[in-house]
Amino acid sequence: MGAYQETYDRWLADPEGFWAERARDIDWSREPDAVLDRSADPIFRWYPGGRLNTCHNALDRHVRDGCGDRAALIHDSPVTGTVTTYTYAELLDRTARVAGALARLGVGRGDRVVLYMPMVPEAVMAMLACARLGAVHSVVFGGFAAAELATRIDDCTPKVVVTASCGIEPSHVVRYMPLLDHALELAEHRVWHCVVLQRPQHTAELTPGRDLDWDAFLDGAQPAPCTEVEATDPLYVLYTSGTTGTPKGVVRDNGGHAVALNWSMPAVYGVDAGDVFWAASDIGWVVGHSYIVYGPLLRGCTTVMYEGKPVGTPDAGAFWRVCRDHGVDVMFTAPTAMRAIKRDDPRAELMAGHDPGRLRALFLAGERCDPDTLLWCQGILGGRPVIDHWWQTETGWPMAANCLGIEALPVKPGSPARAVPGYDIRVLDEDGHDAPIGEIGALCVRLPLPPGCTPTLWGGDERWIDGYLSRFPGHYMTADAGHMDADRYVYVMSRIDDVINTAGHRLSTGRMEEVVAAHPDVAECAVVGVADAFKGQVPMGFAVLKRGVDRPHDDVVAELVQRVRDQIGPVASFKQASIVRALPKTRSGKVLRGTIRRMADGEVWHMPATIEDPSVLDDLAALLESFGHTVRPHA
Ligand code: COA
Ligand code: AMP
Repeated sequence: MGAYQETYDRWLADPEGFWAERARDIDWSREPDAVLDRSADPIFRWYPGGRLNTCHNALDRHVRDGCGDRAALIHDSPVTGTVTTYTYAELLDRTARVAGALARLGVGRGDRVVLYMPMVPEAVMAMLACARLGAVHSVVFGGFAAAELATRIDDCTPKVVVTASCGIEPSHVVRYMPLLDHALELAEHRVWHCVVLQRPQHTAELTPGRDLDWDAFLDGAQPAPCTEVEATDPLYVLYTSGTTGTPKGVVRDNGGHAVALNWSMPAVYGVDAGDVFWAASDIGWVVGHSYIVYGPLLRGCTTVMYEGKPVGTPDAGAFWRVCRDHGVDVMFTAPTAMRAIKRDDPRAELMAGHDPGRLRALFLAGERCDPDTLLWCQGILGGRPVIDHWWQTETGWPMAANCLGIEALPVKPGSPARAVPGYDIRVLDEDGHDAPIGEIGALCVRLPLPPGCTPTLWGGDERWIDGYLSRFPGHYMTADAGHMDADRYVYVMSRIDDVINTAGHRLSTGRMEEVVAAHPDVAECAVVGVADAFKGQVPMGFAVLKRGVDRPHDDVVAELVQRVRDQIGPVASFKQASIVRALPKTRSGKVLRGTIRRMADGEVWHMPATIEDPSVLDDLAALLESFGHTVRPHA
């Protein structure tokens, strides 16, 4: 039996013993009373009674152990032309001062702090400073618009918002302050203060009394010590898209999170203290939380924070340049980023000048990895493992992966390999029974989820139970559909809700429908995610106008596109919409979104027996073909 199977079986035979052992790698100020609290099944809590501080585990203990001079964070920013390295001692010093300054503003254990920040080192310091105080951070991705920020502010009611004057996209500077000002106008909740990091590329106008310049905020602040928190206390809330337009606040605890992420570094990624790890993502997403900030620092690795894009900053050789310049051992990105590089530099000629010599492996996640992209990456990386792995904001760390640090399993393109020890992945049919091998069903995980996964949602257990645990009792429903093969390799095929993945960003078409439907001329609408060779999926909208509206369709479409951009953000990539005479519906009025998607994607589709008016689908087929889609005749 191989090491993977041995580890998996060891975990399965005694999950609590397994996680008790993993917990020994974390510094506790009070040992947990138990490994798992099952008393509120189906809500489970890891390490009850344990006390610790996540920032201590990510910074202080490495300095204490003599590694203060090791590089902790390398900020590489081609958009500003700067590279800055912070050792563990320096990052600790800065973080403790930021924590002291936050404490001076009145932030303490359990208080929330929203971070609306670009990819700057101060964002990492602010996250860790919250952890140091036992405060709960909630990072909002910079590509979201004011209304999305306002929803999150109202949901988690922060005392303080930390922001920067601007983010830098290759084509323009994104001014954050007008977005934040607007969000604070829209929000009902009142924040005490906004702390603003002024960047040289743009100086924001501050609101006296409310806003504090970052330097003034820090001036004279005393370093704050670590506040001891319960293992089960929240470390952060991260909002993500779900089945409805309202984002869900995924909660992460302190104890389970530290244990799981610390272990995942060697077990899944095959890296350890002193290695250089680079997750080319954004701190606004879970990948950024887990593998730019917490995972690598908990383990004592050097983490790379990259403020740039895979292409255009300045070219498709950027990733290889970063790997070479910083001696990256293992890197992680989304398949879409590799498709961007492949599109611009199909033979990877730009790698020649930047041989990523030390790179041992490339991990991909965030969306389905098409075999073409995986094989291309394998080809250019000269036999280094290219590992597709599968996880979600809710789980916080990989559910299925080829765990390089345990045993490299054979790669099967199209599959993120097998369940990571800690996860009992099941494919369930409609009735909740295990689906036969090869048959598609709902991908679920038997409860309890391992440490590090969300124990509940911000705002209540009920929403967590209703949304994830009640459909298949005893299981967590991932909302992905897929199957397993005879070797227990998992294949993730699609979402079963209205979530789409655009350029590795998780978005809700339901939320886009809400925005489109609110246009005064729109009677009803549908937004579906259609396949896109570059971004994986992009949203496509269809709107029916109210009777009597006879404005030029192009004008209405332009307004719809602008509305989604203004209300959700540019990251929604909502650029295609059409005015149609009717939406395809069943006789009971259900919009046939799945059929629209299958038609647009050139898949086999069936004319539903219950369709209200088949000619609507004929019109739709003609429309899609006029956009260049090849629609198959229905089966
Ligand atoms: N702040 C403000 N705006 C942002 C932003 C941010 N942090 N991130 C993206 N945007 C804007 C972009 O400028 C773009 O605006 P535009 O419509 O005016 O051009 C829009 O949002 C769409 O962005 P995106 O979908 O990211 O497209 P892109 O062409 O700018 O970049 C990729 C495409 C593939 C290069 C980029 O998405 C990428 O690197 N993706 C990796 C995904 C990732 O990090 N996933 C996290 C999980 S690993
Ligand atoms: P997020 O919460 O933003 O990390 O997005 C999680 C969703 O992205 C999952 O539910 C999947 O739909 C998709 N996803 C992530 N990784 C993979 C993968 N390796 N293969 C297929 N889909 C993936």
